[in-house]
Amino acid sequence: MKPYYEDDSVQLFHGRCEDILPGLSLTGSVHLLTDPPYFKVKDNDWDNQWSKSAEFLDWMGEWLDLAKPHLSPDASVWVFASPALTSAVESVVAQRFRVLNSVRWVKQGSMAHRASIDSVRSHISFWEGIVFAEQSDDEPETVAAPIGAYIRSERERSGVSRTVIQALFPSVNGNTTGALSNWEIGYNMPSREQYATLRESMGEGFLSRDYDELVAEYVALRREFEDQRRPFNLKDRKRLGDIWDFPSVPPYAGRHVCEKPVGLLTHMIETTTRPGDTIIDCFAGSGAVLDVARQLGRKAVGIEMDEHWCKQATKRLSQQTFDLEALGA
Ligand SMILES: C[S@@+](CC[C@H](N)C(=O)[O-])C[C@H]1O[C@@H](n2cnc3c(N)ncnc32)[C@H](O)[C@@H]1O
Repeated sequence: MKPYYEDDSVQLFHGRCEDILPGLSLTGSVHLLTDPPYFKVKDNDWDNQWSKSAEFLDWMGEWLDLAKPHLSPDASVWVFASPALTSAVESVVAQRFRVLNSVRWVKQGSMAHRASIDSVRSHISFWEGIVFAEQSDDEPETVAAPIGAYIRSERERSGVSRTVIQALFPSVNGNTTGALSNWEIGYNMPSREQYATLRESMGEGFLSRDYDELVAEYVALRREFEDQRRPFNLKDRKRLGDIWDFPSVPPYAGRHVCEKPVGLLTHMIETTTRPGDTIIDCFAGSGAVLDVARQLGRKAVGIEMDEHWCKQATKRLSQQTFDLEALGA
């Protein structure tokens, strides 16, 4: 398969994603961030390929099944959806991935704000849905299970009861805490002083491993744990919630009818992927996802069936810099 456009970070393929996806060969951490057709929201042919929503949803499942094997165990999955079908799209995604959020991207500038009250028979949706999911069902739960198992087996071997040890680590109010349970599961590690207290409580010949050696093992396990986990690097407290207000891309001649703004994509990519990771966009349109991914030091693989948009995306990707303001950052 020859890409329509290629550079060190981006590959763009011209064709239907159903045909292109099976031929991709990707390695490393691979995520999915894509903005598929919505089903009869836009006048464009690409949004009117199905007569019933059920057919559209079946098709959503088909291409998601083709994308899934390319995604790494730590993958983030983002799928845009129309207000009317966000919950249905969410359940199609949920049959294949673990859904974490159904974000509402609220568009204050929407034309719908101008609708006359007399002409409506229900509320108007000023938002677009974005389903966020992860590939893995079995994210590692504990940072340092082997260290936890060591502490637990030493306690059991010493014959000192949990109650006796728990009493040594009360809360500020004197109540029992979950500290011992957390150490024994491997959620975290006792401090140097707490380790010394544990050792003393168990007696001579128990917990003989050196504390610094355990810390070094913990640091290595923590690194491994973070590598296996889906990234979530939220930088801005303002974005903690799942209702977003990023401005849309202002109209300009030749704009893709669904072009996604740089600010929104920057937030999604920075938070849920790492530099050097790869992002698949099965519906690349103007190339916005590919462009922002590349600007943020990620790799990207795009697929677009409309050659006009492959050309436009190529133009955009061939520019070394972009005008953030014009693109709605
Ligand atoms: C919602 S738009 C994506 C817009 C894009 N996010 C942007 O920022 O410009 C969906 C795009 O998917 C393309 N498309 C529709 N069906 C496709 C398919 N089966 N395979 C690949 N591209 C497809 C359409 O041509 C359209 O450009």
